[in-house]
Amino acid sequence: MAFIVAIDGPAGSGKGTITKIVGQKMHLVNIDTGAMYRCVALACLNKEIEYSNIKEIQKVLENIQIEFKNVSGNQKVFLNGEDVTNAIRTHEVDNVVAKFAAIKIVRDKVTPLQQKMGEEANIIMEGRDIGTVVFPNADVKIFLDCSLEERARRRYKQNLEKGMHISYEEVLENIQKRHKLETEREVAPFIQAEDAIYIDTTHLSIEEVVEKIVNIIKERNSYKIKK
Ligand code: DC
Repeated sequence: MAFIVAIDGPAGSGKGTITKIVGQKMHLVNIDTGAMYRCVALACLNKEIEYSNIKEIQKVLENIQIEFKNVSGNQKVFLNGEDVTNAIRTHEVDNVVAKFAAIKIVRDKVTPLQQKMGEEANIIMEGRDIGTVVFPNADVKIFLDCSLEERARRRYKQNLEKGMHISYEEVLENIQKRHKLETEREVAPFIQAEDAIYIDTTHLSIEEVVEKIVNIIKERNSYKIKK
């Protein structure tokens, strides 16, 4: 059985960056499950399919192919053979992705794909329902938290660095709306697993969070080997 680290946390909690660094340090394959929901949303946007059109979404899901590939040391996301690494991070996708991620048939398609990835390698997987639904028996479960304002500030800064000029207020509103949809949805709502370790990142640097998680993994891993 592979070693599995589950990292759940809201948008802007630093989850993506932290997971990537911890994965490199601990030799774990890094899987960003949000990217998979973003691929579904993008595939539907490209075909002008609304989130309420379940019949057409079903068709998209039947043929969808989502892959993570390492290209010259960088992890890239491919949707039906096309590199969509940047295309899934636009404001348009940000605005609709939570709606698509709340749909049962979407989750029923994506969750088994994620579980299969955990059979094939030692992984660190980040998302919203990894410790609760995807891998309830994960070896390590972390729940990252952060204040809403700090999350919006981080996302606003990230956008600026990517050349996306979206006002702080708009970013804050988007994050707030998505959070409401993610926590209140019926299927796989974003909640902390009972046995997850809670880390509030609001006043911590990326390095501090990385160090905490690395230490937790080392502790659990040696415990697992000793058993
Ligand atoms: O982590 P992110 O912002 O890239 O995630 C994009 C969307 O997908 C977000 O609205 C939450 C949703 N998501 C989810 O419902 N379950 C996951 N395991 C990962 C992401």
